[in-house]
Amino acid sequence: MRSPFAAERLPDGRRHYSHQAVVARRALLAGLVVAGTGTAVGVHLGRGDDTAPGAVTSTGDTASAAVVTEAPSPPVSPAFSTTDAASPWVVVNKKHPVVPTDYVPAALSTVGGKQVASVVVPDLTNLLAAADADGLGLTLTSGYRSLSYQRGVHDNAVARDGFATAESLSARPGYSEHQTGLAIDFGSRSQPECAVQDCYQDTPEARWLAERAGAFGFLLRYTAAHTAVTGYAPESWHYRWVGVDLVRQMTERGVATLEEFFGVPGGPEYA
Ligand code: DAL
Ligand code: ZN
Repeated sequence: MRSPFAAERLPDGRRHYSHQAVVARRALLAGLVVAGTGTAVGVHLGRGDDTAPGAVTSTGDTASAAVVTEAPSPPVSPAFSTTDAASPWVVVNKKHPVVPTDYVPAALSTVGGKQVASVVVPDLTNLLAAADADGLGLTLTSGYRSLSYQRGVHDNAVARDGFATAESLSARPGYSEHQTGLAIDFGSRSQPECAVQDCYQDTPEARWLAERAGAFGFLLRYTAAHTAVTGYAPESWHYRWVGVDLVRQMTERGVATLEEFFGVPGGPEYA
């Protein structure tokens, strides 16, 4: 089904939103604002990815997640730090920036033409091999992004979509999971035009990821059901490596977001 957020591409590269898309986006933003001014979800709370500076992106909607939220409390005591940018369990959101601001992963490797934190490589390599064996054309659209690169991504989103919409799609510099090297935006070889676009969710690659990524330690980070918790509109392409053990624990407890699992505040407002 076509996403309510979908936009038509204009010949000059800009996008035209249908009335339905504008209404859906306004509703989403209204929800984010209400969530941001209200009480946290229980005792704890809580999008685009973003192509290279200069490129066009849009929101994504997603039908399924690696795990499903049902009963998000109480939070667990983490075995690894949730604040250390090098930790596999670090929580980065609008209330928790990457520390230090100019953090760069100590070890970066290149997989599928993109840089990622080296710790991700074994699981990512196995995931790509499994997808390949299943006949999928899974590609990497984005991996590690530096502070300055993210600034360009966010600036472009603001110039393209306006500040309010951009804020629901793109992290401000210093607040993106991509800076940790632990987040990956996947693409589709058969439908490269759907990279970081709403239509990615309808690709065989997105469906495969929704079902299989968890087995390789990857969590679908921004889902339609959890925009108030994560602070971002859904992104069917953005996965965060947390390791198979954490995915298993989250699945067992029926919790879909890092914020809810660890009891870490999130949401649409910056700290
Ligand atoms: N699109 C995600 C939220 C980022 O900019 O990191
Ligand atoms: Zn991303």
